[in-house]
Amino acid sequence: MTLRPILIHPDPRLKKPCDPVTEVNAEIRKLADDMLATMYDAPGVGLAAPQIGVLQRVFVMDCVKEENAAPDPVVMINPEITWTSDETNVYEEGCLSIPEQYAEVTRPKEVRMRWLDLDGTLREEQFDGLWATCSQHELDHLDGKLFIDYLGPMKRKMITSKMQKLKRERARDGAYKHGSN
Ligand code: NI
Repeated sequence: MTLRPILIHPDPRLKKPCDPVTEVNAEIRKLADDMLATMYDAPGVGLAAPQIGVLQRVFVMDCVKEENAAPDPVVMINPEITWTSDETNVYEEGCLSIPEQYAEVTRPKEVRMRWLDLDGTLREEQFDGLWATCSQHELDHLDGKLFIDYLGPMKRKMITSKMQKLKRERARDGAYKHGSN
């Protein structure tokens, strides 16, 4: 397993629609392993392939919140939403590509998802609560959409400029580190 660097918004790779996976092979299984390790390390409850610069329709999630509970990693390949509830839910969302910024987003409370698992088997399951929010948030990533796209333009601009500042600071710190060795 390899921890992969997570891209920070704004980055053109986070705005692109991703390509469907054509074959669930060893390369995809390695990608999923790396993504789960990277997500747990961050830590986060979900991570989509474009967030590590891979423009393929894959995401991972684990929304188990209880401490000491067994992990429940889910890997979705070529996921689709096949049904959404009329009832909505408001959740304060965050994103590993937009660190330490949170905002309320309204989405359907329940969704039915269809996807390929790591064996290439077609699966379908209904999710609610954080699992439903997370699967919709991650699926959005595969279409080049971020949770801040649901916010008003002022709020979105404010968060984006904070992220530009963060990226400048990180680039500078990185340059110093390389310079001192
Ligand atoms: Ni995200």
